[in-house]
Amino acid sequence: MTIIERTALGASIDRVDGRQKVSGRAQYSSDVTYPGLVHAALVRSTIAAGRITGIDASRAEAAPGVVAVVTPDNAPRVERGPDGLWSQPPPPLQQRTIVHHGQYVALVVADTAEQAAAAARLVDVAYERAEAVLDLDDPRAVTVENPFGSDQTRGDSAAGLAAADVIVDAGYTTPDETNNPMGLFATVAAWDGDRLTVHDATQWPDATRATLAAAFGVPERDVRVLAPFVGGGFGAGLRVWPHVVLTAMAARAVGRPVKLVLTRPQMFTGIGHRTATVQRVRIGARRDGTLTAIEHHSVQTGAVDDDNLPEPVTAVSAVGYACPNVTTRDSLRRLNIPVPSSMRGPGDAQGHFALECALDELAYSLGIDPLELRLRNHADEHPQLRLPWSSKALRECYERGAERFGWWDRDPTPHSTRRGDTLVGYGMAGVSFFWFQQPCDARATIDREGRAFVRSAATDIGTGTYTVMTQLSAERLGLRVDQVRMGLGDTELPTAPPQGGSSMTASLGSAIHAAAGNLVQAFLDLVADDIASPLRGLAAADVVAVDGRLQRRDDPSISESYGQMLERHDRTDLTADGSAAPATPEELGLAPAGPFAARFAEVHVDADLGRIRVARLVSVVDAGRILNAKTARSQIIGGAVGGIGMALLEDTVTDPATGRIANATFGDYLIPVNADVPDLDVTFVGEPDRFNPVGVKGVGEIGLVGVAPAIANAVFHATGRRIRDLPLTLDKLL
Ligand code: MOS
Repeated sequence: MTIIERTALGASIDRVDGRQKVSGRAQYSSDVTYPGLVHAALVRSTIAAGRITGIDASRAEAAPGVVAVVTPDNAPRVERGPDGLWSQPPPPLQQRTIVHHGQYVALVVADTAEQAAAAARLVDVAYERAEAVLDLDDPRAVTVENPFGSDQTRGDSAAGLAAADVIVDAGYTTPDETNNPMGLFATVAAWDGDRLTVHDATQWPDATRATLAAAFGVPERDVRVLAPFVGGGFGAGLRVWPHVVLTAMAARAVGRPVKLVLTRPQMFTGIGHRTATVQRVRIGARRDGTLTAIEHHSVQTGAVDDDNLPEPVTAVSAVGYACPNVTTRDSLRRLNIPVPSSMRGPGDAQGHFALECALDELAYSLGIDPLELRLRNHADEHPQLRLPWSSKALRECYERGAERFGWWDRDPTPHSTRRGDTLVGYGMAGVSFFWFQQPCDARATIDREGRAFVRSAATDIGTGTYTVMTQLSAERLGLRVDQVRMGLGDTELPTAPPQGGSSMTASLGSAIHAAAGNLVQAFLDLVADDIASPLRGLAAADVVAVDGRLQRRDDPSISESYGQMLERHDRTDLTADGSAAPATPEELGLAPAGPFAARFAEVHVDADLGRIRVARLVSVVDAGRILNAKTARSQIIGGAVGGIGMALLEDTVTDPATGRIANATFGDYLIPVNADVPDLDVTFVGEPDRFNPVGVKGVGEIGLVGVAPAIANAVFHATGRRIRDLPLTLDKLL
C-alpha cells in the first residue's frame, strides 16, 4: 500500500461550505418545501408500558386545516428494514403495545405546522397501563449479556488480582445523556406514484433508503434520500427513526408531500440517547505500578425491543494498557425507556470514565504519579492482537501535554492547593479510542476546464467532510481547492457508510484516494497510444498530478493538462469510480490503531459551595495525518465541550413514577455555555497512520473521551473527595 508522504498537518483552509451555511443558502431538511406540502405533528404516549385500548381522533379530524390523522387503527402495514449495525427500531403504529413513554401513537397531518400541532393535542388516547420497568436494579428487567460481542478475556484476571500488591475495586456510574444536535431533526417525504423522495436529517442516507424501500415494499432504486446538510448528529442520526417512516407513510396516505419537524422534547425520546451505565472496575498492581489485572464490568440501560445500539463500554480496558490479565464484560438490561443509540464516543466515553478514574485511584494508593503510572503500563503493541500498532504516539501525547499544562509543577497531595476560597486541582487521563473504518465508494470526474466533481452518498454532519474531502481530492488530482466541487448526501451518488464511529475520513478518504488514482489511470489509458501525447505509454507510477496536469515523475518538463487530453480525444470529461474496504491486520501485519490522546484538566472548586469550574483543559491528540488543522481542532474543541457537559452537567432525568423524561428541554437539560468553557488548548502529534492509504485516524469523537475522568481526577486532587458518579454536581461534594 502507498502511504501519502506528507507533513502530518494539512492546510487550515476555511470550510468550503461555510458561506452557504452562514448565508442561509445551505438547505437543511427542515428548509425543504414542495408545492402542496402539508405538515405533520406527532402524538406521543403518556404511559411507559401497557397498551392502547382506544383512540378517538374525531376532535382532531374536525380541527381547522386537518387533512388526516394516522393511528394504529388506520396505519398501513410496513415492514421493518434490514437488520444490522444501527438498524432501525421497530416501525411505528404497527402495534397497540406501549413500551416507552413518548412512543408515537398517532400522527396528525394539516395544512400548517401550527394546525397540526394544535390538532395533535385533540387526539384522545385511552390506555391500559402496565407496570413499567425503569430501574437497572429492577429484577424484572431482562438482561442481555455481551450485547455487542465485544467482551474480552486474556490471561487470568482472578489470578492477576490475587498476585497484586494493591487492588482498587470501585464502582462508577454515568447517567443517560441526550445527543441534542442543534438542528431539529426533520423529514420531508414526497411520493411520485411508487417513487419516494425523502429529505432527512440523517448520518446515513443509504440506510434510510434501504429501510424505506423495505418498509413500503418498493425497490431501492425508487427511493431517493437527500441529506446534503445536517445540523449536527452526535450519533442521533445513525439510525432510521420511526418518525422518518411515519412521514413517508403519511405522505402516501394523503397523496401530498409531508414535512415533519421534531420538537426539542421529541428530540429526547425519538432519536436515541446515550445509555446510563453502572460499572465496576477492579485493578491490581505491584508496588512499582505494574498492572497485574483489570476486570471491568458494565451494566447499561437498553430498550425493550431493540438491540442495535453499538455502545460497548468496557472495550477500552482490553486495549488501553499492557496488562497481562484482563476480563471485560458488558451487559444490557431492557427497560421501558426510549430507544437508545450511539452517542459521540459511544461506550468509550463511559468506559474511559471508569477506567481512567480507577487508575487515578490506583496511582494515589501506590504513591505513584498518575501520568507516570500510565507510562509504566503503556501498551507498546496491541495487547489483544499482539501486533505492532499501525500508529501510536500516546507517549508523545502524555509528554507534550504534561509540558504544555505544567503537570510536573503540581503538588501531588490532594486538597493541598488553595487560592483564597478556591481549591485548585490538576487531573489527567489517557485515551485509547477504538478503530473503525467501513467500505465506501466514490466517483471523480474531471472536465475540459480542469475542474473536478467528486461525490459520494456520505454526509457532512458539521464535521468538515466537504472541506477535508475537497482538500484530499485536490491533492490527489493535482488541482486547487477551488477547482474541486464535492457532492455529498444523496443516495443517487456512490454507496457510502454512516458518518459515525469517527470513521468517515478514513472510509471516504480511502475511496476518494482510489477513485482519484483510477481517474489518473483513465487519463493515461486515454492517451496510451496517442502519439501526440507526451504521456503516452506511461504507467500511473510514472506520473504525478500537479497544477491541473499529469507530469512525468522523473521529468517535470514532460506533462500535459487534463483539458488538453480531453480536447484532443473529443471528450467533455472523464470519470472514474473508486472503492475502499478496510484492510485487515493479517494483510498488513499491523493492529489497526484508533486515535490516542492525553488530557489534562485544571479545576477550581469553591471551598464553601462546592461549585466546580474547569479552568484549563489541555488536549494532545494523535489522530494520524490531519487533513485540515482548523477543522480537526474544531472537532476536538467541540468534543471537549461535550466532555465538560458529560463531566459537570448532562443528565437525562426520568421520572421513576411515570417513565417520562423530566428535563426534555434546553432550559432544563444542561449543556455547557461559553461561561462554562475555558480556553481549550489542542495540539496534534503523531505520524500518518499505516492502516489506510490516506494516513488518517478519526477526530470526530476523541475530543469528548477522557475529558470527564480528567476533570473528576482534578476534582479529587482539589478536594480530596472522590466522586464516582457523573455528573459531578456540587451536591455530591457537600
Ligand atoms: Mo457517532 S456516536 O458514531 O455519530
